[in-house]
Amino acid sequence: MSSQNIYILGIESSCDDTAASVIHNGKILSNVVAGQKIHEEFGGVVPELASRAHQQNIVPVVHQALKKANITKEQLNAVAFTRGPGLMGSLLVGTSFAKSLAYGLNIPLIDVNHMQAHILAHFIDEEGFEKPPFPFLAMTISGGHTQIVKVDSYFNMTVIGETIDDAVGEAFDKSGKILGLGYPAGPEIDKRAKLGNPKAFKFTKPKVEGLNFSFSGLKTAILYFIQREVKANPNFINDNLNDICTSIQYTIIGILIDKLKLASKQTGIKHIAIGGGVSANSGIRQALKNGEQKFGWTTYIPKFEFTTDNAAMIAIVGYLKYLEGNFAEQSVMASARLKI
Ligand code: KG4
Ligand code: ZN
Repeated sequence: MSSQNIYILGIESSCDDTAASVIHNGKILSNVVAGQKIHEEFGGVVPELASRAHQQNIVPVVHQALKKANITKEQLNAVAFTRGPGLMGSLLVGTSFAKSLAYGLNIPLIDVNHMQAHILAHFIDEEGFEKPPFPFLAMTISGGHTQIVKVDSYFNMTVIGETIDDAVGEAFDKSGKILGLGYPAGPEIDKRAKLGNPKAFKFTKPKVEGLNFSFSGLKTAILYFIQREVKANPNFINDNLNDICTSIQYTIIGILIDKLKLASKQTGIKHIAIGGGVSANSGIRQALKNGEQKFGWTTYIPKFEFTTDNAAMIAIVGYLKYLEGNFAEQSVMASARLKI
């Protein structure tokens, strides 16, 4: 088969989304995600429930991805899967499924690092979306991670800053929990942040040296602030919800942009990409765009469906590794703490 006609199946199961995608020569043919509603009532992902749901979802999700791509499994050239980082039980479901499928079809198996995938999603062929030139800076912001990565080539990346405690998505979700919002709270805070005053309430930014982040202090500051205000006015949250959300989002975005400015200054790199669930946030997207005027950045913001966990990003890494002949052995193991 010519190198012009490569079909790769990508499988993602690192957290609470079971996803499968087919990519053909760098272009996504299907991108199927089954979310798991079961976690909502617990206010966070319950690992044991997540792996059970993955087991139920994985066969129909892969089936649907192949169907939407209008190909049969026999046409696949390789199977790519998320090896880590993530929840061990969840990763095991995708890993064992991918191994069996590749083995049964007698085609290569390709292991993918989830954090690299959030970054390399920018290399999916997509009309209207530019691919960043090397080197560029990528900020991955999700429910599990907050990193600034210097990307010198597809597989030569260095983490130059990361959170020392909570991830930025957790800052959104935990703040939301304090306010009584559902899980995950990021999208709801984002929606309300369009309606309030960003300077209504002031939260101090954490003082962390260099390019590292910290978000746990902010969560505590918000908790104490709300407890104090609710004591004085039991309806404080209801009366001010939009302003509170807007102020929280404004503070978080300020923290992210400050660190990006520093990273850009230290490295001299002005091409800046974002990825991960929180990059769906309309405020961070706008702040990044503003950086083009203010700081001379060129920014790369992924298509919405490639920001939160998805398998298209796993499929593009699978394709890039396929072109390099970089395959995994059948003995490869899931790795919950896999590093970039
Ligand atoms: O990348 P992702 O889907 O899963 C992880 O790998 O963690 O990210 C999920 C996170 C959650 O914390 C969720 O609240 C956050 O992304 N998120 C948002 C928005 N959409 C999702 N946070 C802020 N604004 C949004 N619009
Ligand atoms: Zn993710």
